[in-house]
Amino acid sequence: MKFLQALPPYFGGKQALLKTIFGLLPGAQQCPTLADAFLGGGSISLYAKAMGYQIFCNDLAERSAVVGRSLIENSRVKANKQDVGELIKPNGFTLCQKDPVNKFFTPDDALLIDTVRGNLEQKEPGFKKDLSTLALINFVLRSRHHGDFGVQWTYDALRAKENTYLPLGHMRSARIFLKSPIDRFVKEIEKINRAVFSNGEENVFTQEDVLEFLEHTRADIAYFDPPYYGSAPYEERYKVLDWILHGEIKEPAVSEFNKDQAYSLIEDMLERAEWAKIWVISYGGPKVDRQEFLNLVKKHRKTAREILLNYKYRFGNQKADSENRDTEILIFAERG
Ligand SMILES: C[S@@+](CC[C@H](N)C(=O)[O-])C[C@H]1O[C@@H](n2cnc3c(N)ncnc32)[C@H](O)[C@@H]1O
Repeated sequence: MKFLQALPPYFGGKQALLKTIFGLLPGAQQCPTLADAFLGGGSISLYAKAMGYQIFCNDLAERSAVVGRSLIENSRVKANKQDVGELIKPNGFTLCQKDPVNKFFTPDDALLIDTVRGNLEQKEPGFKKDLSTLALINFVLRSRHHGDFGVQWTYDALRAKENTYLPLGHMRSARIFLKSPIDRFVKEIEKINRAVFSNGEENVFTQEDVLEFLEHTRADIAYFDPPYYGSAPYEERYKVLDWILHGEIKEPAVSEFNKDQAYSLIEDMLERAEWAKIWVISYGGPKVDRQEFLNLVKKHRKTAREILLNYKYRFGNQKADSENRDTEILIFAERG
C-alpha cells in the first residue's frame, strides 16, 4: 500500500475505505473492468489498478487529470535527476510570491512553487510533465495544514517569523518547514516514482463531464463518488491550487453537483450507468438524508443496500458533521 503515498491529500479521498469497498467487490478475474467516474485524488483507481482491474477513470478537474494520466494511464515513465534539475532552474515566473497568493505559503515555498511552475511551462506535454506536475500538487497541498487553504493564521505567523503559539496539530504540520523546499519536492518525486507500475492492462483517463463519460464507457463495476450536496465545492476549496496549475487567478465555476439540482443529476448519472453489473456509491454531507438517498438509488436498482461503515474519523474522510452525525454513506447495488 506504500504506493498510496504518491497521491495528494485530497479532501473526501477514500483511502480509509479501500478495504471496505474492495471487500464488497468480485476480483479482477470475475469482473475485469472498473469505472471510477469521479477520480478526485485517485485512491480508488490506483488501488484497483494494483488489484489488476482495467481502469476507466474520469474527472473534470485538471488537478485530478494530472493524477489520472501520471499514475493510472502511465505504467513505466518515471522522473529522473535530470528532470528534477530542469524543474528547479531559476526563472522569472511569479504567482505565489505575489499578492494575493503569497499569504498561503512561506516565502521559500512560494519561490520553489513558482520556479517549478515556470519550468513546467517549457516542458512538452506527456507523462514526464504530468509526474512533475503531480509532485508540485503534492508539494503545494502538503505545505498546507491538512491540505486546506482555509486556515490562515499559521502561515501569517510563519511568514512574519513571529514567535507565536501554535496548537499541537498545527505544530506537526509546521514541522515540515524545518526541511528545505527542494528536499521536500525531491521526496514527492521519489514517492511518485515508486507508484508507477504496470498491471498488464491499458488503463484510461478522460477529462469529461460525468454524463458524457458514462455515455461511452462500459465496465463491470462502476464506482461513484460525486461531490456531496451541501459540502464546500471542490472548486472553492482548491482554488489556490487551481490558480497555480492554470498559471492565473480566476474565479472558479462550481460543480453542478453542489447545486440544488444535485439529486436529479445523480438520477441522470445512474440512468446512464445501467451497463455496470455493480454500482458502488459514496455519498453524504450535512444536507443529505441517508434513507432518502437510499430510496433514490432503489428507484433505479431495487437491490441497493447501505453498507455500514466502521472507521475512525480521519481528515479527508468527512465522517461527522458539525453536530457529530455520521455523514458518510456507502451504497452497493447489483443489476437485478
Ligand atoms: C468526492 S471527489 C472524488 C474523490 C475520490 N474518490 C478520491 O478517493 O480521492 C469528487 C470529484 O468530482 C469531480 N467533479 C465534480 N463535478 C464533476 C462533473 N460534473 N463531472 C466529472 N467530475 C466532476 C471533482 O473535480 C472532484 O475531484
